Amino acid sequence: MTDTDTKIIKLDSKDWQKYKEIRLESLRMEPQAFNSKYAEILNKPDQYWMDELLDPDKLYLFAEVEGEIVGTMNASFNENNIKNEAVIHGAYVNITHRRKGIGQQLLTALLDEAKLHPVVKIAKLWVKGSQIKARKLYESMGFSVTGKDGENTLVMEKSLV
Ligand SMILES: CC(C)(COP(=O)(O)OP(=O)(O)OC[C@H]1O[C@@H](n2cnc3c(N)ncnc32)[C@H](O)[C@@H]1OP(=O)(O)O)[C@@H](O)C(=O)NCCC(=O)NCCS
Repeated sequence: MTDTDTKIIKLDSKDWQKYKEIRLESLRMEPQAFNSKYAEILNKPDQYWMDELLDPDKLYLFAEVEGEIVGTMNASFNENNIKNEAVIHGAYVNITHRRKGIGQQLLTALLDEAKLHPVVKIAKLWVKGSQIKARKLYESMGFSVTGKDGENTLVMEKSLV
């Protein structure tokens, strides 16, 4: 498979079930990577998923291979009223599609869109120290560790200017 087989797409809110499916898969398969818990997210009403996709301060991107959603990542703007940061969340690629550059494609597309926001100057994320692959991905994309949040979580940032 080549990179060209992967499409980075947005989902229309009517396709919220595809978003729900990959998000639940990520929490089921990689519970250690995320703060959200599968059981909590499972019980969210249908409207929650639609609202997330429609939120003007959020940008959800998905990787599609042969019509299947195999990965996702999102950026959140104006989080905690901080206007100059784009916060990256929810990075996940299905295990059978890893190490093909899909994570890099998702993050590149998010950062390209973040740069279009006139006030956004920094991309920021939190990653558990145990998530070595994720940390390597972020480092390969120019993020560096700028601090710690608690015992096990690293804060990483990249300038967008
Ligand atoms: C982190 C994650 C999203 C990365 O997804 P991915 O699609 O495998 O990422 P990429 O392929 O873009 O890059 C990952 C590695 O593959 C390498 N790679 C990229 N293109 C490649 C290619 N064509 N062939 C071989 N390797 C390649 C990258 O250089 C990188 O290698 P490295 O770890 O040795 O530095 C994925 O591992 C994942 O879902 N992990 C579990 C969830 C998680 O930890 N999320 C982070 C929460 S903060």
